[in-house]
Amino acid sequence: MAAVAVSLAARSSVQRGFLRVPGGGAAWSTQPKATMSFSSLSRGRKVALSTLGVLAAGGAGLALALHRSVKASDLELHPPKYPWSHNGAFSALDHSSVRRGYQVYKQVCAACHSMEYLAFRNLVGVSHTEAEAKALAEECEVVDGPNEDGEMFTRPGKLSDYFPKPYSNPEAARAANNGALPPDLSYIVNARHGGEDYVFTLLTGYCDPPTGVTMREGLYYNPYFPGQAIGMAPPIYNEVLEFDDGTTATMSQVAKDVCTFLRWAAEPEHDQRKRMGLKVLMIGAILIPMVYYLKRHKWTVMKSRKIAYRPPK
Ligand code: HEC
Repeated sequence: MAAVAVSLAARSSVQRGFLRVPGGGAAWSTQPKATMSFSSLSRGRKVALSTLGVLAAGGAGLALALHRSVKASDLELHPPKYPWSHNGAFSALDHSSVRRGYQVYKQVCAACHSMEYLAFRNLVGVSHTEAEAKALAEECEVVDGPNEDGEMFTRPGKLSDYFPKPYSNPEAARAANNGALPPDLSYIVNARHGGEDYVFTLLTGYCDPPTGVTMREGLYYNPYFPGQAIGMAPPIYNEVLEFDDGTTATMSQVAKDVCTFLRWAAEPEHDQRKRMGLKVLMIGAILIPMVYYLKRHKWTVMKSRKIAYRPPK
């Protein structure tokens, strides 16, 4: 009777490769299999394959070059990459910048742009203390109700209220802005290519249109805006506001602060995400080698077993 026995042996003593069976040939066929290697092809096929390879590579190169040349001809100016202080893998947002940015939003952008996904309570512990956020909320009037007489009424804002909207509906917003709709700014840095780099260059990039280009009434030339004609008048300039913390409000400072604020608004979990990433890396650095060692240890029995054929007596 033929029997296959599984014997466990230390890895070092296992003869790897074909099984040797006493008194006979190999346990299974040792015929070389038909290979598909290049060197075994005939000359003609080698030439044909090489030509095909060269043509394919050339074609891909040509396509890439054409694609690049077409891209270079589009009229959009792409924003450069700015060295934001929160760019690093482990860098948090600059929270005094977020605080100034909120001030810019409130005093400048909020005249036209809503931020409907942000509530005053979101500012607590991020840029403002609870008392400060409460005071900010109370500055605005919120329509509430109905009361017991079925009437709507206004009351001072609470921490749980969302930021007030400048217009009650999109039609009113368009009517006030020459037909252009100021987008909601809650997620704007995620909604545009280039993120805060784009918004920064958009805010600071207004310039005179090139010779021969005339702008329609109510449109402004901005090389960073797709189409170059934007319906938003340049919103910021040097000293457009006075920062509460005494920082000099140059145009670029104002733009930088409002962009940092908008980054926080679009990604409130930013700091926590990076801190969690750091923890994952640190714990992983210990855990992964340990788990790898444990896996090798547990599997060594399986990996080093030997399947042998016992010939019939
Ligand atoms: C006077 C009203 C007004 C003010 C103030 C204003 N904006 Fe705008 N904004 C607009 C309008 C209108 C548009 C839409 C433009 C268009 O689509 O042509 C717009 C568009 C934008 C866009 C989107 C551009 C795009 O790629 O679609 C961003 C970002 C923006 N504004 C940021 C800001 C920031 C930040 C501030 C404050 C510093 C601000 N805006 C202040 C009216 C305003």
